[in-house]
Amino acid sequence: MRMILIGPPGAGKGTQAQRLVQTFGIPHISSGDMLREAVAAGTLLGQTAAGFMKEGLLVPDEVVIGMVIERIAREDCARGFMLDGFPRTRPQAEALDEALARASVALDAVVLIEVPDALILERVTGRRSDPQTGTIYHLRFSPPPPEAEGRLVHRADDTAEACSARLEKYHRETTPVVPFYEGKGLLKRVDGVGSPDEVLLRISAALQTVQTAN
Ligand code: AP5
Repeated sequence: MRMILIGPPGAGKGTQAQRLVQTFGIPHISSGDMLREAVAAGTLLGQTAAGFMKEGLLVPDEVVIGMVIERIAREDCARGFMLDGFPRTRPQAEALDEALARASVALDAVVLIEVPDALILERVTGRRSDPQTGTIYHLRFSPPPPEAEGRLVHRADDTAEACSARLEKYHRETTPVVPFYEGKGLLKRVDGVGSPDEVLLRISAALQTVQTAN
């Protein structure tokens, strides 16, 4: 299965990806996680990305495209992958298409998790991640267990200001990717409002109609 999760910030892409990759046995490739790792490691790529991310802006295409295309060319992606947060611009989608065509493989599905803007701020500002296990929690919707509380991380871009910049970028830069995949017959729209289990059921149902191509 080669698939993409698209959706606004806080739609639940990471939450759902963590569950779905277990079902499909494919790697979860989050461009946001890769960039945060680069920032934490202080690499040149991380130094370039850090300022854009903190402000809720997109990291330039020329930085992100090479990073993700190189990642999906690795051996563990030979039988599939789940992209989360990439592509999020039209040039990124076109670059991915070209890279897959060069490798003679094709995408199987693009899942769009739809959540209204009004719900996004609370989801994003209440998010906490466990750096030890990678688990994503929410202070209200998915409360962390007491033993994890001391080590939880609050992302630098999970502020109200950065969240509204991220939403604006999503509507301006990422929504044009949706008709790109709709035109290819790959798009599955899923309602992202409800509990994570309910959303997972909807995604699983949408993916049942997908025939993996290669
Ligand atoms: P990235 O890390 O990709 O952030 P994002 O797309 O804004 O998505 P999030 O990680 O915020 O949300 P999510 O949909 O994964 O939600 P989650 O499951 O955590 O990117 C960060 C930055 O990196 C970008 O702003 C940009 O600067 C840069 N970047 C990354 N990729 C790039 C690219 N391709 N090009 C250029 N720049 C790039 O859930 C959120 C919260 O809600 C959690 O607390 C969770 O517990 C809770 N929750 C989840 N589901 C539900 C539910 N059903 N009900 C209630 N609560 C829920």
